Amino acid sequence: MLSLAVETSCDETSAAVLDNEKVLSNVISSQVFHSDFGGVIPEIASREHLLKITEITESALSLAGRKISDIELISATSEPGLIGALLVGLNFGKSLAMCLNIPFVPVNHIHSHLYSNFLGKEPESYKFPFISLIVSGGHTLLILAEDFFKHKILGRTVDDAAGEAFDKAGKLLGLGYPGGPLIDKLAVSGNRDYHKFPLAYVKHSRFDFSFSGVKTSLLYFLREINFENVKTEKLLSDICASYQNAIVRSLFEKTLLAAEENEVREIKISGGVSVNSCLQKEFRHLENSGYKISFPETGYSTDNAAMIGLTGYLKYKYSGDKDYFMRESFNHNAKARLDYENF
Ligand code: KG4
Ligand code: ZN
Repeated sequence: MLSLAVETSCDETSAAVLDNEKVLSNVISSQVFHSDFGGVIPEIASREHLLKITEITESALSLAGRKISDIELISATSEPGLIGALLVGLNFGKSLAMCLNIPFVPVNHIHSHLYSNFLGKEPESYKFPFISLIVSGGHTLLILAEDFFKHKILGRTVDDAAGEAFDKAGKLLGLGYPGGPLIDKLAVSGNRDYHKFPLAYVKHSRFDFSFSGVKTSLLYFLREINFENVKTEKLLSDICASYQNAIVRSLFEKTLLAAEENEVREIKISGGVSVNSCLQKEFRHLENSGYKISFPETGYSTDNAAMIGLTGYLKYKYSGDKDYFMRESFNHNAKARLDYENF
């Protein structure tokens, strides 16, 4: 089954063409200009999606060597995300499906990060159960994936997302946006034991995360040492390494505890922060104790339409009511949502 998928939930306009589970093309246009503002401006993001969506979809089709009339299924992100941005891709997808008279699948963006670990692998290797740690700029979730679309949320952030903690630190350190990759790079030559930033524990929940405290403690620490006046390359690297270590320890410890308690030996990590080198190293150590650890293949960690396409196709494949998706393009259920009600 040939499917087309679009993703416009935040600042990436993306379209992909898939043949069943196999990705034929995955085109991503990143709105890098938001870095001038130090973060994503929702209204500008939606307008840019509107300008780009047709062109990106056409290039995904042409790279895959297919025509729009070949497409048999359309998927688009419906939640969660920036409402104006979501509306562009969702209505684009629904309208196309309606015109072509083919099924339409609204996709939860969090589900798609979870299934992004399957991209590029043979369908026979899709195995459950596993613990999924989703770490992006907008979300931090710990999930027990028991089967296709049978997921249990074990924990989530009660304030900032892990990526947000990196991005806010990037700003405090004067590095620019997004802070995650810059901190990761500087931390390589730093000493992670230089300073002990507090690990946040959430009362009454062993699996929830909190990252706003670590960011505030960085702010106070920079003031205390009068950072602007004593700044050196070495100091910056040491602070980055220590700060990164605090975030990674929190993610690592809770994920491992979730795996132990649920007696699951497989952990899949996804989302933009999953490419962090310290996080990858920490989790890879677990392979020595018999855990199976996996990360998405290159290009599938940050937002992309291929993960939406795979999730949409799997949702359709494992649905008992295929006709339901024929009605989805006319259906008010397939609407954009800020949060994830339909988990
Ligand atoms: O998944 P993603 O592209 O977008 C959202 O859905 O939010 O994730 C973007 C986030 C940003 O916060 C960025 O700073 C973070 O991923 N990120 C990293 C690294 N590369 C990207 N964080 C830490 N280390 C990295 N190497
Ligand atoms: Zn995302």
